[in-house]
Amino acid sequence: MRSLFVVAALVLALLGLPTVAPAKPASADEQVLNIGHRGASGLAPEHTFAAYDLALKQGADYIEQDLQQASDGTLVVIHDATLDRTARGPGQNCTGLVSEKTLEQLKTCDVGSWFNERYPELAREEYVGLQIPTLEEVLRRYRHRTNYYIETKNPDNADRMEQRLVALLEEYNLLRSAADRWQVLVQSFSPASLLRLQALEPRLPLIQLFFGSEASQTIQARLDAVAQYAVGIGPSKTDIDAAMVQAAHERCLDIHPYTVNESEEMRDLIDVGIDGMFTNFPARLDEVLGRAAVGGKHAAKRAADAQMDCVSGLTATAAR
Ligand code: G3P
Ligand code: CA
Repeated sequence: MRSLFVVAALVLALLGLPTVAPAKPASADEQVLNIGHRGASGLAPEHTFAAYDLALKQGADYIEQDLQQASDGTLVVIHDATLDRTARGPGQNCTGLVSEKTLEQLKTCDVGSWFNERYPELAREEYVGLQIPTLEEVLRRYRHRTNYYIETKNPDNADRMEQRLVALLEEYNLLRSAADRWQVLVQSFSPASLLRLQALEPRLPLIQLFFGSEASQTIQARLDAVAQYAVGIGPSKTDIDAAMVQAAHERCLDIHPYTVNESEEMRDLIDVGIDGMFTNFPARLDEVLGRAAVGGKHAAKRAADAQMDCVSGLTATAAR
């Protein structure tokens, strides 16, 4: 579909007829990316192998990782900067800032039991004792079998988080597949972090996140700058409107709202033209997308191709 825009623009140009820049059309419903937010974190403890395994079983195209850094520099996967909400274990190791603990200390913490305490109806014995994974452990477990949607958290206070991330992606042979078929997308609220990543590895597809309650117009005003380094944006679902979707697509930016957990809001966002969404319940989104849904690697590849086609179209238009 998107390549048709490019072809049409070329034909019009050859005929000497006026053209308009081809905007990226909204993704077809079956191509909407299903991003397991912290894994299937509505049903299993977030950022554990249990949550990631379940997300993949339930049809997620991507599993999300929130990166924090241990005091020795190791990249670990945990959402909060502090341990208190999700970690249980020795107080000196499992309370306070993640960045003040060594990996050895963090590995003594149990990040499954809090879930059983908080959601007794979903509790499972096997969640007790689950550990905080390192990013390397995640990459080693899933290799090329899934797609990764990795967020740099607090990157501006970290010690070379971006360098460490790129080095790991290189070690696990994921840089090329990230570029060619979006096997890895890297997201951040920090433009500075994304710019550092772009400088380190220009092939990496990047997503600019926006904090909730930013006005649609404020986000739209930033899109020209964002399009210089990113392939997409991640706004809060509550901030999305049709004008933002159109403005993003006119700049060949995909749009992936967070965090969408109810079937009705999933349908509403698909209707407004988004290209993927973060959800704690990948099975719910899989059901909304239906049997025709393109899955996993194919979904990521189609999204990558569509975005690259759009950029080619814009470039061709600008060159005339
Ligand atoms: O990364 C998208 C979404 O996860 C951002 O919010 O706080 O869950 O990381 P948060
Ligand atoms: Ca996140």
